[in-house]
Amino acid sequence: MPPATQHEAYVFDAYGTLFDVHAAVRRHASDIGPDGPLLSEIWRNKQLEYSWVRSLMGPYVDFWKLTEQALDFALERVPSVAPSHRDTLLEAYWKLDCYEEVPTVLKALKDQGAKLAILSNGSREMLESAVRNAALDTVLDDIFSVEDVGTFKPAPGVYEMATTAYRLYPNAISFQSSNRWDIAGASKFGFRTVWINRASNPDEYLDFPPDVVLPSLQQL
Ligand code: LAC
Repeated sequence: MPPATQHEAYVFDAYGTLFDVHAAVRRHASDIGPDGPLLSEIWRNKQLEYSWVRSLMGPYVDFWKLTEQALDFALERVPSVAPSHRDTLLEAYWKLDCYEEVPTVLKALKDQGAKLAILSNGSREMLESAVRNAALDTVLDDIFSVEDVGTFKPAPGVYEMATTAYRLYPNAISFQSSNRWDIAGASKFGFRTVWINRASNPDEYLDFPPDVVLPSLQQL
């Protein structure tokens, strides 16, 4: 594996990779009750499902709208959680915690002279809010939002935003994601890929493997 400094640009998925999508429910865990983790899981899975269905079917609807629709489904599906938590949970999504190693890792890469960016399904507004809240705005050079191409990952046109902006070949860019399906799309596109397997999930999409697998961003 080449040392980290050999890549001119490091591009990161946002949700699940830099920001903890389960932080919204966890922050209100005691009010929400024991089914909080189930609610959070369904919320995330539906949010992703809606993005893939929209990509295939059209029309494009932004990720914030899909996040709201996914939470509405999850609240109906888990009736033990009072629907009155809706607004609080949505508000928390704008200020998700980043994983604890993120600020240090990004700063170290920045100090080595690499370009740093987010490339995410999130709307620009959501991403800017999360980045500001985690005080990552000073280390990140760019935020690439799917909003600019009107479809979602893993469509190749989304990954292409980074190669176009940086005028780099895909293999000059190291792409990090905790989502295995996103790593498959990024590997197929030609990025050097690092799967951040935070949840110790089994491997999948075996025909599009990651170049590197890490348990967190710490060892990047
Ligand atoms: C993202 C989601 C899919 O940030 O994790 O693109």
